[in-house]
Amino acid sequence: MMESTNSLLSLDINTRVKMQYEAYPYPDYSLFIPLRNQEAYASHSLFAAQLLREKGRTAPVLTQAKAPILIAGCGDILPFVLSFWEPISHAIHAVDISERNIQRARFRSLLRPNTFYWQVGNIEDTAFKMPENTCHVDSYGVLHHLANPKKALQRLHDHMLPGATMRVMVYNSGARSWIRHLQKAFILLGLSPYDTTDLDAALRLLTHMQTLSPMFKERIFPMKSGILHHSARFVDTFFHAREARLSIDFWLEAFASADLECIGLFDRYAELDDLKNPLLHFPKLKDLQSRVNDRRFENNFEIFLTRKAPVSQTTEPMKKIKFPTRWSIKMPPKAWFTYTETNAIPLAMRFRLWWTFFKTLSGSLPLLDA
Ligand SMILES: C[S@@+](CC[C@H](N)C(=O)[O-])C[C@H]1O[C@@H](n2cnc3c(N)ncnc32)[C@H](O)[C@@H]1O
Repeated sequence: MMESTNSLLSLDINTRVKMQYEAYPYPDYSLFIPLRNQEAYASHSLFAAQLLREKGRTAPVLTQAKAPILIAGCGDILPFVLSFWEPISHAIHAVDISERNIQRARFRSLLRPNTFYWQVGNIEDTAFKMPENTCHVDSYGVLHHLANPKKALQRLHDHMLPGATMRVMVYNSGARSWIRHLQKAFILLGLSPYDTTDLDAALRLLTHMQTLSPMFKERIFPMKSGILHHSARFVDTFFHAREARLSIDFWLEAFASADLECIGLFDRYAELDDLKNPLLHFPKLKDLQSRVNDRRFENNFEIFLTRKAPVSQTTEPMKKIKFPTRWSIKMPPKAWFTYTETNAIPLAMRFRLWWTFFKTLSGSLPLLDA
């Protein structure tokens, strides 16, 4: 009885989430807008492999001739963006519950030379066949929208090769309590994400609330261009069909019980500068909790993981990684130079850093200094 109620409940959550993403594909940037793919410098399998290399281990993407990559919950943009970073030998399996997302992602990637496999499916549904022996999994901003994230993590783990890497982003639930209050208020007011007049009413309310509270304005204002005036992202933030309220201790326990080891945390906004580089030394739970509690850390958790594997005695030969030469004349990522320590770096040095980054990823430089 309990079992069938649970599975009904989980079916319901997935159905509602699917409905949302069929109506509002994500992130729904125009299909013809040029994208700065450099900004995804930390989103691909080679970056995750480098983090493992820093620990003296070799990720399967660096040794397997064919290294399948799974994007679990790919949305409409990631397959295209990642195709610029993944070597051509890495087939990209793009899976999403929303057919509309897959159609858009597929259209966007029409001219890319990579091998793509497109699948509309629910990663929680055990009847849905996912690719086996994947070398890297990307599930960015997906797990907290699932009915049973813990089970899904185990399932993803089971489809990875030992030692394979994974990148996830899960919400920083503590930092989102104000969003949750608004989500609840909109539900209580009976506003529907599928009615444009209701969305307009919600937007008017948010705009009005900014005039009442400077604290609220401080939070809402940065959302102006990216979220408030874009219905798909507005619904994703304030009307989501499912946003599990799970704290970092839940996630770390879920990773551990799925036999996934945390190898690094990407501190996008430099909120953890007082700790040892979190990308190379995963922070302790108590250090994260205390910084979430007093709002020193408000970003979501962007975490790199690896499927635990026995220490290998054999050293498999590394394959050659080569980036297209034209990448070296692309501008380096803007994000690198938004920090106080980096924003005055001259252009020539920016390019040198960019080229060094490529050399590091292709394995031709010694390890980073922690
Ligand atoms: C917030 S979006 C993130 C999309 C993409 N990862 C990105 O970063 O741009 C969440 C995505 O997960 C997908 N999704 C949600 N539940 C899913 C499920 N059970 N199986 C497969 N995809 C799912 C949604 O359709 C949506 O594309």
